[in-house]
Amino acid sequence: MKNFDRLEALGQTHLLRFFPELHDAQKQKLIDQINSVDLSLLDELKAEKHAESAGELAPLGALEAPEIEQRKEEFESAGIRALQEKKIAAVLLGGGQGTRLGYAGPKGSYDIGVNRPFYIFEAQFQTMLKNCRKAGTFFHVFLMTSDKNDVETRAFLKKHAFFGYPEEMVHFFVQDMAPSCDFEGKLLLEDKDSLSLSPNGNGGWYRSLIRAGYGEMIQKEGIEWFNVFAVDNVLQQICDPVFIGATLLSGANCGAKVVRKNAPGEKVGALCLKGGKPDVVEYYEMGEELAAEKDETGQLKYRFGVILNYLFNAKKMNEIMNDKMPIHMAKKKIPHIDENGNFVKPEKENGIKFEYLATDTVRGMETCLPFEVVREKEFAPIKNPTGIDSVESARALLQQNGVEL
Ligand code: UTP
Repeated sequence: MKNFDRLEALGQTHLLRFFPELHDAQKQKLIDQINSVDLSLLDELKAEKHAESAGELAPLGALEAPEIEQRKEEFESAGIRALQEKKIAAVLLGGGQGTRLGYAGPKGSYDIGVNRPFYIFEAQFQTMLKNCRKAGTFFHVFLMTSDKNDVETRAFLKKHAFFGYPEEMVHFFVQDMAPSCDFEGKLLLEDKDSLSLSPNGNGGWYRSLIRAGYGEMIQKEGIEWFNVFAVDNVLQQICDPVFIGATLLSGANCGAKVVRKNAPGEKVGALCLKGGKPDVVEYYEMGEELAAEKDETGQLKYRFGVILNYLFNAKKMNEIMNDKMPIHMAKKKIPHIDENGNFVKPEKENGIKFEYLATDTVRGMETCLPFEVVREKEFAPIKNPTGIDSVESARALLQQNGVEL
């Protein structure tokens, strides 16, 4: 039965408060939205310990930077071979809203230049082109957008001629949206004819990719691995042959780029073992005490943090795509209309947004190679306008790496 016919049973009849005032097209829009969202998310609100998988935590070592340097040639040539055999594709996660940055457009279209324009997307496409040149071939790039930024993202990249990347190798797909609710589990309305919807996190990328109809092409092209990465780390390597080679030679189902945490409380997820399986434990889930624990060598036990740059095996992705993923619930300030139809922009948190996270895929992969990169060379995320992980800090790191801004 469709959600719309079950509103009463679901305790959501308030969504129809303004129904009598709506035109037919508006009524249909609201009905379609209600029917298209996943309302089973609301059940998760009732579950006490929703997002955490069970099992005891244990540290997981990494392939460390000095060893990588030593074996660079071996890894690089294996990686280049895989690129030449067209086994690798890139997946750019560009569906986020960049709320912390406070920029209304797609984050990739943000200009971080100083004396010249230099866009976040430009940094990513330049890096991809660099590795294409190394391999002597292009790889496919799947670019995830959301309903909120799809049109703008396409238009921006077209306007900039994909920064030199062949357009026919870039494939867009749109991720799913999730509803938001108040703390009582009542769904919020954004307007009289529309639900408050937001992108459902970066974790649903594979399902959305397949639903967009790319399954056949992936098979036909012989793509065996996806390099999944965030749009906002402007120093990262994409389809890095050394990382690809090391992961493939390790025999693991996934590779994860990690950095050495700069402090126990650094806000990155720690790659570790949970119940014997590789898993990412978010900084807020680990607790201060455990995060600060040291091993016999005096180093942090949980010292490797993920930077959202993964290599996932395509066959394994297919196997696990219908498995239930943990859902994360974040308290946010959610603009909405109140019971009188007045628009409210809350000053403090008033509700919950639901998100799936790509990092949760690591557990499903069952085996993982943590691959250490040097943070000053590969980690410059842009989350905020100033301060930590910001436009300012990323500019400084880019300049330090010889990029003229
Ligand atoms: P973040 O979690 O940092 O989110 O995304 P964000 O939207 O960029 O920024 P805030 O939290 O609103 O300030 C990490 C990566 O995942 C993508 C983002 O585009 C970024 O590349 N992402 C995030 C999606 O593709 N979809 C989402 O629903 C959320």
